[in-house]
Amino acid sequence: MIKLIEESTEYLQSKGFESPEVGIILGTGLGQLLNEVEVIAEASYNHIPNFPTATVEFHKGKLVYGILGGKKVVVMQGRFHVYEGYSLQDVTFPVRIMEKLGVKTLLVSNAAGAINHDFKKGEIMLIDDHINLQGSSPLAFKGVDKLGERFTDMSAPYNLDINAKIKDIAKANNIKLHEGIYASVVGPQLETRAEYRMLRTIGADAVGMSTVPEVIVANHLNLKVAAVSVLTDECDPDNLKPVDIAEIIAMAGKAESNMITLFKELIKSL
Ligand code: HPA
Repeated sequence: MIKLIEESTEYLQSKGFESPEVGIILGTGLGQLLNEVEVIAEASYNHIPNFPTATVEFHKGKLVYGILGGKKVVVMQGRFHVYEGYSLQDVTFPVRIMEKLGVKTLLVSNAAGAINHDFKKGEIMLIDDHINLQGSSPLAFKGVDKLGERFTDMSAPYNLDINAKIKDIAKANNIKLHEGIYASVVGPQLETRAEYRMLRTIGADAVGMSTVPEVIVANHLNLKVAAVSVLTDECDPDNLKPVDIAEIIAMAGKAESNMITLFKELIKSL
């Protein structure tokens, strides 16, 4: 894997991706942050050597390098999911590339269902901790110890100082920001009523199909991490309606402006 990482990194450096400080992963339906980036270079996923091959729906997936909040950033527009058939190592490969390029801080966003009944769709949640329900680990492979500590500490996977800053920024900008625990499932099917009840019982506040693998690998690489969920639907098992994925994606787009403010102001303050 070390050789593959070097190859991909060298390709991006040759395209002008020069020592970004902050990496950003944009979740499904959450692409508008890119409008705020002063773009310097771009690379389509299907042109980057060793990148997981983008699926049809993600043929637009690309890595963007530029300036945001006065800092050099690299942004993943579109991420890879286990439910598309990728391995956890594939899903997290871009995080290893970002780190190799020079990234020290990783900001992650996702669209998620609200499990906590006090959280409403359209609101956002700062992830304070997570529960991995994807059945395996992106660190479960031979040779992982050549890339970092195999038994990666996860006592505080989301950086406490950055989270404190994000909460201050939310207050200063009158943004309602919940804080809670994100559970990641494989999907792509949505949850049953019984599964939503279970998620609530085990302490989840939101559920989605991403983020946790990338955060585990970011911790493996000692990156500072923060992540925000845009809540797109309310998972109330006693009033569950059939889900409409188009509605979920549309809700993500409507609610993302607050997330953009948080990320932009945070980057300025780093
Ligand atoms: N479950 C899983 N993933 C999701 C959901 C959900 O209810 N909403 C948005 N992503």
